[in-house]
Amino acid sequence: MTLQEMMKTVLRHVPEALLPGTRPEQLEGPRPNIGVATPRIDGPLKVQGKARFAGEVSLDGMLYAALAHSTIARGRIAHLDVSRAEAAAGVALVMTYRNAPRLKTPQAFGQGSGVAGAALPVMQDEQIHWNGEAVAVVLAATAEQANYAATLVDVSYALEPAITDFQRAKEHAHQPESVLGESPLLEIGDAESALAKASVRVDQIYTTPRHNHNAIELHAVTVQWQDDNLVVHDATQMLNGTVSTLAQVFDLKPEQVRVLSPFVGGGFGGKGLWTHQMLAAAAAKLAGRPVRLSLSRESVYRLIGGRTLTEQRVALAANPDGTLAALIHSGVVAMTAHNSVPEQFTFPARHLYAADTMRLEQQVAEMDMLANTFMRAPGESVGTFALESALDELAEQLQLDPIELRRRIEPDKDPASGAEFSSRHLIKAYADGAKAFGWEQRAAPGTRREGEWLIGMGVATATYPYYRMPGSAARVRLAADGTAHASTAGHEMGMGTATVQAQHLADRLGLPLDRVSFEYGDSALPAGAMAGGSSQTAGTLAAVEAAVSQLLKDLLKQLPRDSGLHGCKADALVPRDGGLGRSDDASVHVPYPTLLRQLGVDHLEAKADAPAPMELMRYSMHSYGAQFCEVRVNAITGEVRVSRFLGSFDTGRILNPQTATSQFRGGIIMGIGLALTEQTEFDPRSGRIMNRSLSEYHVPVHLDVPNIEVMWTDIPDPHTPLGAHGIGEIGITGVAAAVANAIYNATGKRIRSLPITLDKLL
Ligand code: MOS
Repeated sequence: MTLQEMMKTVLRHVPEALLPGTRPEQLEGPRPNIGVATPRIDGPLKVQGKARFAGEVSLDGMLYAALAHSTIARGRIAHLDVSRAEAAAGVALVMTYRNAPRLKTPQAFGQGSGVAGAALPVMQDEQIHWNGEAVAVVLAATAEQANYAATLVDVSYALEPAITDFQRAKEHAHQPESVLGESPLLEIGDAESALAKASVRVDQIYTTPRHNHNAIELHAVTVQWQDDNLVVHDATQMLNGTVSTLAQVFDLKPEQVRVLSPFVGGGFGGKGLWTHQMLAAAAAKLAGRPVRLSLSRESVYRLIGGRTLTEQRVALAANPDGTLAALIHSGVVAMTAHNSVPEQFTFPARHLYAADTMRLEQQVAEMDMLANTFMRAPGESVGTFALESALDELAEQLQLDPIELRRRIEPDKDPASGAEFSSRHLIKAYADGAKAFGWEQRAAPGTRREGEWLIGMGVATATYPYYRMPGSAARVRLAADGTAHASTAGHEMGMGTATVQAQHLADRLGLPLDRVSFEYGDSALPAGAMAGGSSQTAGTLAAVEAAVSQLLKDLLKQLPRDSGLHGCKADALVPRDGGLGRSDDASVHVPYPTLLRQLGVDHLEAKADAPAPMELMRYSMHSYGAQFCEVRVNAITGEVRVSRFLGSFDTGRILNPQTATSQFRGGIIMGIGLALTEQTEFDPRSGRIMNRSLSEYHVPVHLDVPNIEVMWTDIPDPHTPLGAHGIGEIGITGVAAAVANAIYNATGKRIRSLPITLDKLL
């Protein structure tokens, strides 16, 4: 049992009232903005081109950087000649391991407060650790000059034996120490013998390939040293972690590093701290000038890790009544020795279904490659492909409707931990979705045909955990002109963060939306939640709530006797109409400007930390959904078209239906890519990624995406801030299985390896 699991077991028995942070904050009260479709506050800036992204920051005397990348997976630089690059037009300098400033090896995710993609030295010696590692940074007066000069770097290598073939790496697969704090092995009863005894069973291998995040905004950084202080304009979803890791690498105090990231053009888990930020800062130090490094799409593939591949076994045994006698989910992923991102594909099986026995195990196989990382619903997106495909196979054998099968295996409590669910309405999500989608029209496999097109329908469960990370804070300021302003070092990658937080602040203080503002994207602000694990919304809501509570307490404490609210307790107040009213006397209402005047101040400010996320220790907390897909498969060419899609979600209270719809749809579109087209081609001989561009790595385009309907239960979770769950990641989960199950229904062919390309259907 890991420490995390031990703490959870103990806390499950502590009365809820004794836990901070589990109080249902503000489930009641007037909410004119929360739950109302609200367009993105930052939208106009973006469509007018006024939002300044990290690669658009222009600084005096700035140099442009370009990179040369290694072409071997492991070995040493044997020969390195940069003289031609140095002599090229406009070149200021070329940085290699020979002249790079001395840097400490960054701490990777899971080590201290590190967030680096890998714990490897950055350009400190002749050693090469992966195919694509940067071997030279060229600084020039223009980007074109830098790009050209980078092609003139002459380098050759002494190769060392490298493991670049997953089939070979697998021979040494082993359990990692933990899978995100949880044990890599979970066993309940003897699942293998239950499986052996069962008369109805499924036992199959499912595979998913490597994937790369392909945000529209390429990774970019503009850096400047101001004496010993480092200012970094970055595209990041983890401001505070970037500060602490850069400080550790450059041997600075965290106060000496400032990271700004007001806009991020998509992240999906890939906009973390990788070598390019450290290289740009080192090169700027060497040059004594600001540096901008905008990665090319190829450089993104070389330097920014993606999702690793998985090989999963799912074995299910059914009891005669259609419940599960055994649930086995195990498998292996590729990873490096320098990070710890084991793609938690068994997490869905830990929390979704009741089974008499269980065996869930994850293994990792180490390879010499670019470190893999988090990518939208790491684990759940590929884990649900295997699990939900297998359940479809079992339903087929049992001659049960797949939704009916889910009903029969719906658990009362978390099947792995025994904890209560904080909020779970999966069966309702299925029922609502089935009705809206017209599930009853589903026919027997291979029986619906229109001309050349075979038509089928499939369904699968979506799931993603609710997370709230410790350590977020916020500041709230109320001004005499009746405006309010909240700030925290949070992130807006296009999800609608700024909009939803402004909606909350407005409602919390009883102000109109245009009287509040929300500031984020700067590490100089109070430490914020990172944009990861779909946790930022809840974490930020909790911090802003804590700061507003503090501010109102401070305000009430100082009110003079003649104020209409003198002696009032905070919980006897109703924020409304630009001020505070008494809950026990509707005739008493004092506008904020009056209150501040009564205090004799022109503004009031409070900063507070969010309470620790104890709710996570006590409850099993997850979001759910039912993904419905209709496909048309061409009987002659094998071409697959997703013709209809509907996602029915159970993700707590929906705070902004407009941005939520977009999050769900975006996730589903990414899921269609996962199902049908996306695959990073990795050469097992050289460890080189071969399809490092959008012309060869196929993300869904408009013609691949049908109209996608989304709906939700909108049932608040009583144990989270505002009853909300994060919704950034759940959309992609379950989609690949829903598509695969629909393809089976259309054709009678079961494809167990992603992506489902037409060759697999012929
Ligand atoms: Mo997400 S993969 O935590 O950005």
